[in-house]
Amino acid sequence: MSALFTPLKIRETVFQNRVWVSPMCQYQATHGHIGQWHRSHLGAFATGAPGLIMVEATGVIPEGRISIGCPSIEDDAHANSFKEVIDFAHSQNVKIGIQLAHAGRKASTMRPWDDHRIATIDEGGWEATSSSATAFEGYPIPRALTINEIKDLTEKFSEAAERAVKVGFDV
Ligand SMILES: Cc1cc2nc3c(=O)[nH]c(=O)nc-3n(C[C@H](O)[C@H](O)[C@H](O)COP(=O)(O)O)c2cc1C
Repeated sequence: MSALFTPLKIRETVFQNRVWVSPMCQYQATHGHIGQWHRSHLGAFATGAPGLIMVEATGVIPEGRISIGCPSIEDDAHANSFKEVIDFAHSQNVKIGIQLAHAGRKASTMRPWDDHRIATIDEGGWEATSSSATAFEGYPIPRALTINEIKDLTEKFSEAAERAVKVGFDV
């Protein structure tokens, strides 16, 4: 018999079933804050009672966002914008996770329907950085981070994870 609709426990987290919703970029955040779009999009999945919903790639710092429309969890204010949808997911016994991300050399694009081209500073874009000054095909050459900047970035991942747990994410 299929185990699809049976619970799964990983460490202390119990998922009510094994139907999990993949993270899906929506490009609907404003300055990294999620709003009604995300609450509706993620909330609608919660009404279907999957075991887990994963929130899309979310920048641990603003420059880690993929596009100017991607969310970030750079501070408590950004983290708190997820609270309402987290609480709704929990009201449906649905676990909710967040994909902590840094887009590296593929960062700072426009939204897909604006050709996904590189955003200018005036459009809200920024200088992409990466572990080396090696461009992704069709993208500008990123600025190579220094060793200290890379160490600092690992701290940003850990701070983002702490913020995510504090606001109520399960995964
Ligand atoms: C609109 C859209 C946005 C996506 N955004 C993300 C994302 O933010 N992070 C990620 O890891 N994968 C992302 N993906 C990939 C999906 O999470 C998933 O891995 C992919 O669709 C393959 O799963 P499937 O075979 O069930 O469709 C996205 C996919 C789609 C269709």
